[in-house]
Amino acid sequence: MLLTPLLLGLTACVSALGGHGHDSTFNNPIFPGFYPDPSCIYIPERDHTFFCASSSFNAFPGIPIHASKDLQNWKLIGHALNRKEQLPRLAETNRLTSGIWAPALRFHDDTFWLVTTLVDDDRPQADFSRWDNIIFKAKDPYNPKSWSNAVHFNFTGYDTEPFWDEDGKAYITGAHAWQVGPYIEQAEVDLDTGKAGEWRVIWNGTGGMAPEGPHIYRKYGWYYLLAAEGGTGVDHMVTMARSKTLSGPYESNPGNPVLTNANTTSYFQTVGHCDLFQDSNGNWWAVALSTRSGPEYLHYPMGRETVMTAVSWPEGEWPTFTPIAGRMSGWPMPRDAKDIRGVG
Ligand SMILES: *[C@@H]1O[C@H](CO)[C@@H](O)[C@H](O)[C@H]1NC(C)=O
Ligand SMILES: *[C@@H]1O[C@H](CO)[C@@H](O)[C@H](O)[C@H]1NC(C)=O
Ligand SMILES: *[C@@H]1O[C@H](CO)[C@@H](O)[C@H](O)[C@H]1NC(C)=O
Repeated sequence: MLLTPLLLGLTACVSALGGHGHDSTFNNPIFPGFYPDPSCIYIPERDHTFFCASSSFNAFPGIPIHASKDLQNWKLIGHALNRKEQLPRLAETNRLTSGIWAPALRFHDDTFWLVTTLVDDDRPQADFSRWDNIIFKAKDPYNPKSWSNAVHFNFTGYDTEPFWDEDGKAYITGAHAWQVGPYIEQAEVDLDTGKAGEWRVIWNGTGGMAPEGPHIYRKYGWYYLLAAEGGTGVDHMVTMARSKTLSGPYESNPGNPVLTNANTTSYFQTVGHCDLFQDSNGNWWAVALSTRSGPEYLHYPMGRETVMTAVSWPEGEWPTFTPIAGRMSGWPMPRDAKDIRGVG
């Protein structure tokens, strides 16, 4: 009889694709449209959920937060910036390129921390008042009221992120105003008051324009520093350095850039401004921004979107990233899939 072997064949096919019931393929962009500068974390203690924050410039509500259980189905769960009193000055910044640049989302002490910059892009780079660096925190990112008002700290730059060292001390790393250099700087900061220590240069990048978007990961006895260079156009790239101590000196990865679509004819151009996170299986993933503008890079009506890729990071070595394309295949998707709160 014909039907039985056909059904058996179908069953075998489905289970080979799915492994333990989950696919390892996904499509980019994971967040289509205006979601630049993604920063993502995986929080096992919050019901095994991935959370991401994106830049929102002058839009209000600002700083969208996405959540997922399986890296395939994402839901916009709210906005960190959702009440005027959190940051009244947002209403006063002019220019499309002003407003909220590059939030960094992290989880520490059972609290979500979000560090970012409100930029007045019509003021000179070296003007201290151009860069309003701010800290938000929340216990429950699903509840808009849980997000605090902004706590301000002084830094003449942008792309700021919090990092807690082994001793519990908090540091902020950021990109110094790029026209006036130097580049990646760091200071100890009291995240509750915004009181900052002395800013020190920890890395100048590999020579690309505007080293920015720094993220630090303590892994395998090293502090790994991830950054973006080349500007957010077609030369955009992701580079890495590492050090045995948080304050440096950081040595560049000889294999830089670790991720870029520069000098390719890919439909996905301007790949950069990356963040890394690990899933429940210990597998590494990266998110970055990209424009679907290739190969000509003339028009990209969808703006800067969020893309994702699989990363292989053997112990003690430099990570390797799968180049960004539309149809991706990566690690088996996490098995914790359950609906995000609020989804039927
Ligand atoms: C930031 O700098 C200004 C001007 O020097 C100062 O008045 C203010 O107290 C500083 N803020 C913090 C949080 O240190
Ligand atoms: C970075 O470059 C500046 C000059 O712009 C230099 O003073 C500084 O020593 C350099 N820092 C590092 C860590 O390479
Ligand atoms: C792209 O090619 C140019 C010209 O050869 C080169 O200078 C640049 O470093 C390349 N960019 C990347 C990110 O590979």
